[in-house]
Amino acid sequence: MVGCAGMAGDELSLSHFDPFDPVFLADPYPQYHRFRTVEPVHHGVPPFPAISRCYYVFRYEDVAGCLADDRLLRTRPGTRGRNPAEPRWIRTLGRSMVLFNDPPDHHRLRTLLATAFSPDFVQGRRAHVEATVDRLISAVPEGAEVDLMSGVLAPLPVHVIAAILGLPEEDHGLVRAWSDDLIAATDPRRSVTGVTRAGDAARELLAYLEDIVRDRSADPGEDLISRMLLARRAGDRLREDEVMANAMLLLSAGHETTVGLLGNGVLALLRNPDEWRRLGREEAVLPSAVEELLRYDSPIQMTFRFAAENLALGGNTLEEGDAVGLVLGAANRDPEVFTEPDRLDIGRAGGRHLAFGLGTHFCMGPALARMEAGLALRALRRRFPRLRLAGDPEWRPTISFRALQRLPVTTIDRS
Ligand code: HEM
Repeated sequence: MVGCAGMAGDELSLSHFDPFDPVFLADPYPQYHRFRTVEPVHHGVPPFPAISRCYYVFRYEDVAGCLADDRLLRTRPGTRGRNPAEPRWIRTLGRSMVLFNDPPDHHRLRTLLATAFSPDFVQGRRAHVEATVDRLISAVPEGAEVDLMSGVLAPLPVHVIAAILGLPEEDHGLVRAWSDDLIAATDPRRSVTGVTRAGDAARELLAYLEDIVRDRSADPGEDLISRMLLARRAGDRLREDEVMANAMLLLSAGHETTVGLLGNGVLALLRNPDEWRRLGREEAVLPSAVEELLRYDSPIQMTFRFAAENLALGGNTLEEGDAVGLVLGAANRDPEVFTEPDRLDIGRAGGRHLAFGLGTHFCMGPALARMEAGLALRALRRRFPRLRLAGDPEWRPTISFRALQRLPVTTIDRS
């Protein structure tokens, strides 16, 4: 199993799958292809020191099978709220966050949240999202070299989700800084200082949300926090601490992932100028373009599960508590499912990618993410049809979340 990663002559050889390798960060796909071919279930480097054994899964069919397997849980058995793999703020808040719960508690939280965060409610936000996109894109100077991440693609999702939650516009910058700190600490590639900063951010954000939740309890509005407080199902409702925890989850889940989709998506299009031009010629291709960008360079590259009992996986025997790394980014490039998976084809038919997960924890935000990405790409393509890369992009040092820190471009206008 241990050897040098790469091709030796015609032979494939493997090292441990090591998502901490800097080469992996820039382009994880060659590693994924090697493991998918040679060792599709790989006993590799555990994502967190407290976990002794982790198996990474690369093939589409296996990843989808694991996501649908109710013997694989989000929470390590026997550690509910005490999982040493998670920072303390997650252990405390995680008890109330839908993502960190397993059935049956998960079902209760998800049903109540879905009542508040309904498709109609999301659709009703379209005009606001469009106005936010237009405001940010029209502020980008023409004929200049700019970083598209800091100017447009990173601030857009936070403005959208914070406004949906009903947080005042003047607080959005603060909320974004807290959320960035929180996300960095949930990633396997996190530092001790990062975890400390996240703890501070969690406490400050929680205190901030406490005031907002108190206000909305007394005087509900049209925003999502008010809707969560008012949501009722079969005589049940969310407690205030559950509203706060899930508002926090929606803020970070709904924000960092969409930043990934926008940045990775624009980068992929600019590296494939024919596809960028095609987007301008055929705006009807926009919905399939968004799906293809989600598949091609997925914002969440991997997610983890824990075995609830001993079970067999690809010739290995997992023991209760073992971790499984489900590599969504590898599944989405599986040639068994996607013809020429490394080719970007914005008209690709079929939407079977796993970028939003599958099964119990399937993402609650696809409608919002698709709307935001569609509107942003259309506006960007219309305003800057001759947009060009102006240097190497810079990736954020996170592994589960794949997103850009900087995307230098030249904004030649349409004239
Ligand atoms: C491109 C954007 C997005 C991507 C790629 C994405 C991806 C995902 C994935 C892969 C999961 C499942 C994680 C797992 O199974 O362990 C998930 C769950 C979730 N997502 Fe998203 N997401 C996106 C946007 C959003 C948005 C905009 C929201 C809400 C504002 C959101 C809210 C959630 C929630 C609440 C869950 C947990 C669901 C549950 O545990 O039942 N996501 N997302």
